[in-house]
Amino acid sequence: MDLITAENLSKSYHTGAIITWALKTVSFSIPSGAFVSFVGPSGSGKTTLLNLVGCLDKPSSGRLLVAGMEVGSLDSTDAALFRGKHIGFIFQSFNLIPVLTVFENVEYPLVMVQNVPATERRQRVNELLEAVGMNEHSRKRPDQLSGGQKQRVAIARALVTRPELVLADEPTANLDHETAMTIIRLMKAIRDKLRTTFVFSTHDARIIDEVESVFRLDDGSLKNNGGGLRHG
Ligand SMILES: Nc1ncnc2c1ncn2[C@@H]1O[C@H](COP(=O)(O)OP(=O)(O)OP(=O)(O)O)[C@@H](O)[C@H]1O
Ligand SMILES: [Mg+2]
Repeated sequence: MDLITAENLSKSYHTGAIITWALKTVSFSIPSGAFVSFVGPSGSGKTTLLNLVGCLDKPSSGRLLVAGMEVGSLDSTDAALFRGKHIGFIFQSFNLIPVLTVFENVEYPLVMVQNVPATERRQRVNELLEAVGMNEHSRKRPDQLSGGQKQRVAIARALVTRPELVLADEPTANLDHETAMTIIRLMKAIRDKLRTTFVFSTHDARIIDEVESVFRLDDGSLKNNGGGLRHG
């Protein structure tokens, strides 16, 4: 089953009298459990696309279905609820909360978004810290961690609400090559285990070998249809 379907999706930004078409009638579908990347040069529309799928912004035209919901028509309150229920986010700059420990950072979405009792929170956080190899660092604060360690924590945080979909906009951009590969492989191993769908963006060509299928964006247009998707 497809988790994400876009049909003739377009997005324009208006800055004064200037209109930029960041996405131009893009169509694609991504099956549940996929591990895919959008690739393209700077300005090609990767962030714009992930922001639409993540219900952080609305399409100008076209259709976008995520987990069976027509997300383009959600108002901001419903979009926030939808995100909290279905989507986890991983960011290029990690976005951990500096005053919270590793444990508390991962626990945070469960406290804020979902009303999960403390015992279950502890169990879920510990499980995920174990899965990303960070259980020994649970009492540290983000400034005591390396970049790769921060991104491991961010992956655990993205998964703690058990979302169907994790979106990551250039999750390895601030990491050296070796760490970047480790992080991508970790995300893939988690996908294999939990069947969480991972959609991310990169302009690092070396990462592409690790990805099941690649959608190429160029100046707002899709250059292929992600051919060879092996999951569904
Ligand atoms: N808020 C905005 N207002 C106006 N134009 C925007 C806005 N956000 C993006 N754009 C424009 O839309 C186009 C696509 O931008 P986008 O950020 O999606 O590209 P990207 O592929 O993520 O680039 P990068 O690799 O540099 O992150 C660019 O031309 C950009 O200048
Ligand atoms: Mg971007």
